[in-house]
Amino acid sequence: MKIAIANDHAAVELKHEIMAFVKELGHETVNFGTDSHESCNYPEYGEKAARAVAAKEADCGILICGTGVGISIAANKVRGIRAAVCSEPVTARLVKEHNNANMIAFGARIVGAEMAKAIVEAYLGAHFLGGRHQIRVDMIDKIGQPTDFRE
Ligand code: RB5
Repeated sequence: MKIAIANDHAAVELKHEIMAFVKELGHETVNFGTDSHESCNYPEYGEKAARAVAAKEADCGILICGTGVGISIAANKVRGIRAAVCSEPVTARLVKEHNNANMIAFGARIVGAEMAKAIVEAYLGAHFLGGRHQIRVDMIDKIGQPTDFRE
């Protein structure tokens, strides 16, 4: 798979470690930055990776900031993106199986490198289960679309 990856200044080292790990697992990575330790704004990088996933230029994505929260909120503003913050591998598996999350996020200030790798491995190894979960994912994707007349 082709994996989009983005981060802010809080996660430069962890991003490179995760990129190497993703390659070891047999996948390709696309690095949307940042590669600088200078303070930056995570929405810029989260949006770039999210747009690549939404446009199907990448199969899925990994987002890393201090907590994983800010960059995932930014990514979730892009239509078609379901980005989920994960702090351990069980959630990482379930966000794929149940929510068909097309991006995961985690915090470089929250999880260590080994936990981050376990999260990534669990997510990349999981498959969407469909069925009743598809109905719910379709409902999520309809929220906020022009055809949502409740707004
Ligand atoms: C940057 O200091 C920090 O706010 C950011 O990495 C992230 O944790 C935001 O959600």
